[in-house]
Amino acid sequence: MAADNSLAIHPDQYGKKIAAEGFTDIGSVKAFSREGDGAFRFACTGGIVSVLFYGESVVRVTLGAAGEEPELGRDKHVLVARPEAVEVRVLERDDAVELTTDALRVVVRQAPMRVAYYDAVTGELLVGEGGRGMMHGASGEVASYRAMRAEDRFYGFGEKAGFLDKRGEKLSMWNTDVYAPHNPETNELYVSIPFFLTLRGSRAFGTFLFNTFKTAFDLSGVDEYRMHAEGGQFDTFFFAGPTAKDVVGQYTALTGRAPIPPKWALGYHQSRYSYETDAEVRDLVRVFKEKNIPLDAVYLDIHYMHGYRVFTFDRDRFPDPAGLIAELRAQGIRVIPIVDPGVKADPAYSVFREGAASGKFCGFADGSLFYGQVWPEKSAFPDFTDESAREWWGDLHAFYADKGIEGIWNDMNEPSVFNESKTMDLDVLHRNDGHPATHKELHNQYGFFMSKATYEGMARRLAGRRPFVLTRAGYSGVQRYAAVWTGDNRSFWEHLEMSVPMCLNLGLSGVPLCGADVGGFAHDSNGELLARWTQAGAFLPYFRNHSEMKAIRQEPWMFGGEAEDVARKYIQLRYRWLPYLYGLFAEANRTGVPVMRPLFLEFPDDGAVHGLSDQFMLGSRVLVAPVVRPGVTKRLVYLPAGEWYNYWTDEKIAGGTHIVVDAPLDTMPIFVRAGTVLPLATPRMNTEQPVEALELHVYWSANGTAEGTVYEDDGISFAYGEGASYEELVVASRGEDGEAILRADVVRDGYEPKWGERRVVAHG
Ligand code: GLC
Repeated sequence: MAADNSLAIHPDQYGKKIAAEGFTDIGSVKAFSREGDGAFRFACTGGIVSVLFYGESVVRVTLGAAGEEPELGRDKHVLVARPEAVEVRVLERDDAVELTTDALRVVVRQAPMRVAYYDAVTGELLVGEGGRGMMHGASGEVASYRAMRAEDRFYGFGEKAGFLDKRGEKLSMWNTDVYAPHNPETNELYVSIPFFLTLRGSRAFGTFLFNTFKTAFDLSGVDEYRMHAEGGQFDTFFFAGPTAKDVVGQYTALTGRAPIPPKWALGYHQSRYSYETDAEVRDLVRVFKEKNIPLDAVYLDIHYMHGYRVFTFDRDRFPDPAGLIAELRAQGIRVIPIVDPGVKADPAYSVFREGAASGKFCGFADGSLFYGQVWPEKSAFPDFTDESAREWWGDLHAFYADKGIEGIWNDMNEPSVFNESKTMDLDVLHRNDGHPATHKELHNQYGFFMSKATYEGMARRLAGRRPFVLTRAGYSGVQRYAAVWTGDNRSFWEHLEMSVPMCLNLGLSGVPLCGADVGGFAHDSNGELLARWTQAGAFLPYFRNHSEMKAIRQEPWMFGGEAEDVARKYIQLRYRWLPYLYGLFAEANRTGVPVMRPLFLEFPDDGAVHGLSDQFMLGSRVLVAPVVRPGVTKRLVYLPAGEWYNYWTDEKIAGGTHIVVDAPLDTMPIFVRAGTVLPLATPRMNTEQPVEALELHVYWSANGTAEGTVYEDDGISFAYGEGASYEELVVASRGEDGEAILRADVVRDGYEPKWGERRVVAHG
């Protein structure tokens, strides 16, 4: 029991080591067989295990719940890949069974039963269970221990506070509304993704604990780590890599890749809890224009509704929502309303009435509904685990879509409830598409299912246009439906700093479209912080400024002077950089490799970057080093080997070393790798405005070459999925008189880009 006082350090808390006591070890293998579905079955004294390959480099090892056969049939809407018929060579030794593909060897020792994963090519042991293996707990828990080497580093784990490498931490996955404090020991946040990547030198492999109960990862040990789930099966996927990019590719092939977002979702977004009236919204948009600050979307937080009833507008505050939306849309600006799961328990309110009468809400085994207090006070919660509720909820979004809305903000979907447990009762029985399951089992999936219902409902109504959904809560696979923002951070420098490793790890966990509330949500921001945060935010995948009611206002101009100029400059810069950024989203859609990348993804052989939390790569060609402390006008930057250009000065710098770079308030250090053709756009005020020219910025390599990719599609429809996109590889070489010679190799020609002209800008 967590306590907020000295009770937390009561002597009784100590000495209770996480031990194997009360757990039954898997024991020894009694029988081994190959099943008709391609799975290998190991009947052991302490449980039954199945081993099933999903490809040459991906294997699923599943320990059934106590005494039960492993259940592999249900994908919980998380898995999008099916097992592949790969050739597995089976070697039965006296003491072990070896299952080998061209990439991976799984060795199952018989007595006791222990699983180990080897690289089939090099023969190297990647990871194995040691003295302790898989086990069952007395009350339905499952766990396992694996050996860890001194040099192993751990990344991923979805949305976690703290720095990039999670070695040494104890992480727990239970979607939780945390208004405060978001510090390094806040380990349960809004999103649970029980996937991680292990890096050993430049060798990478990955693990996904496919279990939706509360799960825990204890990486605080010296030579072994522990994975634990409060119930269900011990169901794991192992991804053999060998590179970190391969691992992310393998994990996202299994759980799905993010669609390319509508282009407008990548512009600058302005939010506030709340813009309370249509007049306030109009005024806001007017100031953006006057101040010459680009803008693509304005958010409506909970005050737009009639008494916090979702699917309503308050008639006094927003008398003509469709009119307002059309008026803004004509100026190239979209409106994104918040939609929470809590439905006010008011029999006079049609959404509640309909949902209650047709069995769409969460309830208990005796048929009574679960009610919880949220913004609208007593509320019922849709049972998104069930297809019929998802469809019903999705269809309700016609209310928004028919008014011209294309983006929805899903919040409070952990679900958050204003009670002691902060959420729904654990014995709520979800319908779960005909497989009833408790909230204890499906809690971590509630936000995932809400995002799915919202995204699919909007997609049905938008007639071919891409919906944008922003979610606070999620589970593995949420990237297929929504962007994730990191919830209620604060206007603290520490939270600006933390937003970088948080989004990096989310990206590695399959979620490329992620960001933090720019300027900080709670607490009062200030000019310097807002300026620095807007700089960083402009280069994070998702870019929204948001703050709470009690906090000082923090629109880009609120602190005037230099802070305003800096915010304007970087918001404008975001639009200049969109062609490059958009191309990275197309890449993420194709490969799963995130847009914002830790340096080790690009420079795995360089040990100096494995722990770097305060710089990141945007794609493979650009290094960004935000300033995350007050009063700082210079910063230490590590440049990996190779040549780099300082984006601001064009100075050429040899990498493989740390440098100190000037970073006055208007400068966030950015470096472009030599040998790059960087596609940028001429400035514009929103993504609806045409691009006057595409600029190809050439940053020569030492031998006078450079290349880059240009990607474009209509930015709004799903036609890119049917080949309606344009992609070219631009290859530049330096002519005898120093002139740039560019060749464009068209890779795909299914769309005709609309930019007015192309310009070439040679640097250096
Ligand atoms: C939650 C959200 C926040 C929102 C507020 C009111 O705290 O995280 O972004 O502004 O609720 O809806």
